[in-house]
Amino acid sequence: MSRHYGVFGHPVAHSLSPRIHAEFGRQTGIAVDYAAIDATPEQFTDALAAFADKGGAGANITLPLKQAAFALCDDVTERARRAGAVNTLVRNGDTWHGDNTDGAGLVRDLTGRHALDLRARRTLLIGAGGGARGVAPTLLEAGIGDLFIVNRTPERTDALVDILGEPGRVHPRYLNDLAGLGEFDLSVNATSATRDGRLPAFPASLVGRRTAAVDLSYGEAAIPFLSWARAHGSHDAIDGLGMLVEQAAESFARWHGVRPDTDSIYGELRARHNALVTAD
Ligand code: ATR
Repeated sequence: MSRHYGVFGHPVAHSLSPRIHAEFGRQTGIAVDYAAIDATPEQFTDALAAFADKGGAGANITLPLKQAAFALCDDVTERARRAGAVNTLVRNGDTWHGDNTDGAGLVRDLTGRHALDLRARRTLLIGAGGGARGVAPTLLEAGIGDLFIVNRTPERTDALVDILGEPGRVHPRYLNDLAGLGEFDLSVNATSATRDGRLPAFPASLVGRRTAAVDLSYGEAAIPFLSWARAHGSHDAIDGLGMLVEQAAESFARWHGVRPDTDSIYGELRARHNALVTAD
């Protein structure tokens, strides 16, 4: 039976992952059979079982299924456990092994492509959903300073802070408290709010000349937060396109044992998603 790969999400039709994995396959000479598979949370378990029956050997998981994917893995990597969310599945006999390559993808993009030194950066993470969970553990491992987490639903902030398990370094805060938190060296928008073009009102005091503003989205969805940050003088404004390419490369390496070069596909996609990205 031939080995299939794919990305599960809802909606998923506009996912760039099939294009990215096709390019990695071309570059490495590996025949890659990778499709986008739409599944709602209710359909996901059955859809994944059908995929496995047909030779599904690995999958990426995107919105809104990352926490559901975590729940149905038989074992997960440490970084996925700390995230409580899985974006990469690897078939292991009759079971699924789960990993989360989002955080590694983000850190690689920020430190490699954009040459940011993350060490000791006082960091704000806005959001506590699947995206935020994926990147928080790896940002901590990358050596950021204190991490403040805010979210519309405070219970989800608390759950994420608990699972990260570094009291004294990781601080839950309320959205209403933002005005009193001062300036951050790194501000990460991991909410899906701006995908609908609605940016919650943030105090200008969060960003300044030292701040790298990062949105985990790309394209139109990244513009409200990044333009807000630029307007308030942030030093860098970086969208999630590079993270997307880098997390895909990490997943590819897990499945095929080769890490592809990401520059050419990044350049190709950047030409088509030219949101404001500046790091100087
Ligand atoms: P993702 O995988 O993109 O993180 P998710 O798990 O659905 O998707 O999480 C979405 C995040 O965006 C959550 O932090 C969510 O806040 P809640 O936990 O309170 O739902 C946040 N979010 C979505 N719409 C928002 C809005 N209009 N204002 C503020 N936060 C919002």
